[in-house]
Amino acid sequence: MTTILVTGATGRVGRHVVQGLLEAGVGVRALVRNPAAAGLPAKVEVAQGDIYDPAAVERAASEVDAAFLLWPAFSADGAAEVVAALTKQVSRIVYLSALNVSDENPAASGVWGEIEVLLADTDWTFLRAGGFMVNSQEWAEDIRTGDVVRTPSPQAGRSVIHERDIAEIAVQALLNDKHIGQKYALTGPEVVTLAEQIAILADVLDKPLRIEEISPAEAEQAMLAQGADPILAKSSTTYWSSLITNPEPVLPTLKTLLDRPALTYRDWAEEHADEFRA
Ligand SMILES: NC(=O)c1ccc[n+]([C@@H]2O[C@H](COP(=O)([O-])OP(=O)(O)OC[C@H]3O[C@@H](n4cnc5c(N)ncnc54)[C@H](OP(=O)(O)O)[C@@H]3O)[C@@H](O)[C@H]2O)c1
Repeated sequence: MTTILVTGATGRVGRHVVQGLLEAGVGVRALVRNPAAAGLPAKVEVAQGDIYDPAAVERAASEVDAAFLLWPAFSADGAAEVVAALTKQVSRIVYLSALNVSDENPAASGVWGEIEVLLADTDWTFLRAGGFMVNSQEWAEDIRTGDVVRTPSPQAGRSVIHERDIAEIAVQALLNDKHIGQKYALTGPEVVTLAEQIAILADVLDKPLRIEEISPAEAEQAMLAQGADPILAKSSTTYWSSLITNPEPVLPTLKTLLDRPALTYRDWAEEHADEFRA
């Protein structure tokens, strides 16, 4: 039986990858730090370990046919050793990368491009995803407890993507070798500004919400206070400001691969509405 290693299996994308693989009748092994807290379906074989520990990754990848890889950190420190350990066991790797990786210079495109470079000698597929709709969960507490959402750059235009769509493409790629060597740039189906996202949430929740615009510097400070990586905090706020005049593109890749339209932000808001209710 085919067995696939899933990293980030307890995460927002990974849970759906696990589910999709199980539904396809494939064996799933999940690398998890805390098996007791993982809450994965009983059919999943759990390999306890830390992704930053090469020996744990090598053990977890023993005799698997393919791996779904994500790298949770915003630095590639230690990634070369981990990728070397992983690729001793498996060469077919579907990597959750990011839309901002440039083909001209992936090594200078942040951690995602650095990992792509490390995977160059494997049978890779790169899923270069744009911003996730599920990032809106960061507003959940404000919305549960009040009616004001504090955000920088409310007019930033984002082509955010549903985590289930990314996972569905990951499952396709893991199960079909025709995806080897492909870099898929993945976005949602439309540009939705942050203000429009909040308006959709308000409509779905049937609760008026008010936006309080904060400056990029205030947003950066808030991210740092929540423990965000300083490089990420700076680059994110600068990037969001740039999207006011230069919104993200809407790309057809997802629709072509799935042979259906990508899920919309309203679809996402309806699915996740309970997380925003008191
Ligand atoms: N958010 C975006 O807009 C966006 C856009 C493009 C790409 N990405 C990339 O997508 C990835 C995140 O995906 P996600 O949102 O689905 O993940 P997530 O919900 O943030 O969850 C992170 C996953 O990684 C696991 N993990 C964290 N540290 C670990 C460690 N030391 N050892 C083993 N497992 C560890 C967590 O497991 P535990 O249960 O142990 O915590 C969890 O399963 C990142 O690589 C990010 O750069 C994100």
